[in-house]
Amino acid sequence: VFANPLRPAILAAARSATLKTAITKAPVTRSIVSRFIAGDTRAQALAVARAILDSGRMISIDYLGEDTTDAAQAQATVAEYLALLADLAEMPEAKAPGQVRRLEVSVKLSALGLALPVDGPAIARENARTLCAAAERAGVWITVDAEDHTTTDATLSLVRDLRADHPWLGAVLQSYLRRAEADCRDLAGPGSRIRLCKGAYREPDSVAFQPKSEVDASYLRCLRVLMEGRGYPMVATHDPAIIAEAGSMAADSGRGRGDLEHQMLYGIRDGEQLRLAGRGAQMRVYLPYGSQWYGYFMRRLAERPANLGFFLRSFLTR
Ligand code: FDA
Repeated sequence: VFANPLRPAILAAARSATLKTAITKAPVTRSIVSRFIAGDTRAQALAVARAILDSGRMISIDYLGEDTTDAAQAQATVAEYLALLADLAEMPEAKAPGQVRRLEVSVKLSALGLALPVDGPAIARENARTLCAAAERAGVWITVDAEDHTTTDATLSLVRDLRADHPWLGAVLQSYLRRAEADCRDLAGPGSRIRLCKGAYREPDSVAFQPKSEVDASYLRCLRVLMEGRGYPMVATHDPAIIAEAGSMAADSGRGRGDLEHQMLYGIRDGEQLRLAGRGAQMRVYLPYGSQWYGYFMRRLAERPANLGFFLRSFLTR
């Protein structure tokens, strides 16, 4: 994650309104964005989802949007998720038997209103509750994404509350956070679904490990806690060393193929995704769509110097 020396600058740019306008308006950006994003519309996302499901993988669809500061936009996000859940309910996978749901949606609480100046947490909670009820009717799971560290407490407490009524609700933990291992211990209980990732935001040293080696070591410590726990670990990484280690940990803790899943982002290591699914592993693809792709796209550029180089070269060689 942190092997890229330009990462802090790119993540700062991810918050710049001026750059956002310049980059989103540049015609060349589109073709590169489409590597990571299924399309602007729900119909495009569902078509891509169909193909992924048919290839033996599972999906988690994300309607892009974050840092909403107006209540109407949060309501529009809820409406889009409800329409998405209604469409997913029509897929045969929604009715398939088994403990593991093949269809999932991912949501960011900041898109549901968490940061609204008045009553943000209460509004996000009610919106999330509405989505959980609809997901349950649809036969679809929900996992709540992890955003920057200032939202971690609010996010985990909201997930904990909603799990009283919707025990299948998942949460994401980020191994770059110094608190991650303790959070894993708290959340490794029966029925808990935890997606473990490294973390994609720019965080200060006071709360987050900075060197890649420390983030990776923390990931392995966290993963061991989850594997030895009683929940359902979701191993969200493209890192080959960690994926191999996850296999040995699962064997050590007596977990079968159905007791954990691998997850990767749409457009990243597609061949490896297919290889894992082909070997019988449960593999879920995180599939984002929508017009608010700027923040998500910039985090993908920041992760990998090669992505940034490719992006910049395409500007220069037009
Ligand atoms: P690492 O960055 O070390 O990469 C390992 C290898 O993967 C690289 O060598 C390369 O081959 C490949 N790779 C990684 N990123 C790439 C890229 N952008 N383009 C091309 N190749 C790439 N973060 C967060 O803060 N909150 C969240 O809620 C989520 N949710 C989430 C869900 C899922 C399903 C995944 C897979 C990831 C997330 N993330 C996330 C993102 C996560 O925190 C992290 O930033 C990325 O997954 C990249 O880290 P890796 O674990 O892949 O390792």
